[in-house]
Amino acid sequence: MTNETLLRPGPRGQAIIERDDHVMSGSIQPRYPFVMDHGLGARVWDVDGNEYIDLAAGIAVTATGHAHPKVVEAITEQAKKFLHIAGTDYYYDIQVRLAEKLARIAPFSDPARVFLCNSGAESVEGAVKLARWYTGRQNVIAFYGAFHGRTMGALALTASKVVQRDGFGAMVPGVYHVPYNNPYRCLHMREEAACHASCICADFIEQVVFKKTVSPNSVAAIILEPIQGEGGYVVPDARFVQQLRRICDDHGILMIVDEVQTGIGRTGKWWAVEHFGVEPDIVCSAKGLGSGMPIGAILSRDHIMTWPPGAHGNTFGGNPIACAAALATLELIEQEYMANAAAQGEYLMDALHELQPRHPSMRHGRIQGIGLMVGVELVKDEQRTPAKDIRNRAERLAIDNGLLILGAGESVLRFCPPLMIDAETLDEGLRRFDESLAQAEREAGLL
Ligand SMILES: Cc1ncc(COP(=O)(O)O)c(C=O)c1O
Repeated sequence: MTNETLLRPGPRGQAIIERDDHVMSGSIQPRYPFVMDHGLGARVWDVDGNEYIDLAAGIAVTATGHAHPKVVEAITEQAKKFLHIAGTDYYYDIQVRLAEKLARIAPFSDPARVFLCNSGAESVEGAVKLARWYTGRQNVIAFYGAFHGRTMGALALTASKVVQRDGFGAMVPGVYHVPYNNPYRCLHMREEAACHASCICADFIEQVVFKKTVSPNSVAAIILEPIQGEGGYVVPDARFVQQLRRICDDHGILMIVDEVQTGIGRTGKWWAVEHFGVEPDIVCSAKGLGSGMPIGAILSRDHIMTWPPGAHGNTFGGNPIACAAALATLELIEQEYMANAAAQGEYLMDALHELQPRHPSMRHGRIQGIGLMVGVELVKDEQRTPAKDIRNRAERLAIDNGLLILGAGESVLRFCPPLMIDAETLDEGLRRFDESLAQAEREAGLL
């Protein structure tokens, strides 16, 4: 049986989708009819035996690829020893080793401390609690387009899609949203004008927010994604991030970077913030850290993470199996995959630029990203009217063509494959992307 002869989803997948419909929370309704059976590296297979190239990595999670033998071995060996003991009450070596490793790679010149948790949202919750506790201030500045998670505290910071907040009542107070810098809009400006535009968003905080709505002395933190993820893979101008650092320094505000999606080598450096020549005070990490095992971490400058025993904790944070997966992941990323992400990221970017003239919906859109975090914006015209219908259709057709790819923002397709991917697999994935997009464009009458 070849890929072409099998239905996607086939009868087995369809049956699981129908059962899922009856029992899973309505808030979890997968956009893509792919029913996972197993995976290896950057390829996955569904329960009907269809093969797919995975350029989504379970939303930028499976950093070392699916079922990397070293990660699987580390998990298995740890599982034979013990599954849980509770780091809030007892000590164990593997948790300390992971914290030591994370402290070594933290993007601070100061020594670092680490709090281990279970997810991205939990790392954000803890980071904001830490900033409030350390500064004794309540307010936080976050950005439009940001996604920081869906628990109550993280949700108050999230300003990505209204459906994520709608119906949940009053948010945690003290959050002020401001515009995020998108240098693409300034591309055709002269250098000084572009510089000015990149600073406008930062100026907005000082000239508008601090003068009209909230005193800087009451702001605990500015939290930003160094590259906006769910917001559409928006890479800000370095000067914007540097300005934010300056504002933090001027007013005793902490800078929190949410590296949940961007961190752990995805951009070719441990942390995306390193591309901007800025040191944050607190880092949130999760996703790629455990290659798929649920784990998150807060990294902080040593002198900030001085909260007393009992001030913050959890039951499962630093779970030994998740720690084993994370240690194996970090070793692989350091040895090989971080450099691979940089090299394959350039390759991917060049290949997408080559495809651009062939696709009417790509022609006027931006292709933006660093390393293996690249977004392709699909638009209808020079005014960049979002081609959301084409994006949605192309995503669905990609499944039929054996490709996992994710949407982001209003009309962006994002490429965030496992960091171990090679050029040959990328080529095959891009061929399937090319076909899927062409078909969506033909259906929309653009080709
Ligand atoms: C930048 C960022 N922060 C936080 C989160 C929330 O992470 P989690 O879903 O693990 O709670 C996400 C998830 O997509 C994210 O992309």
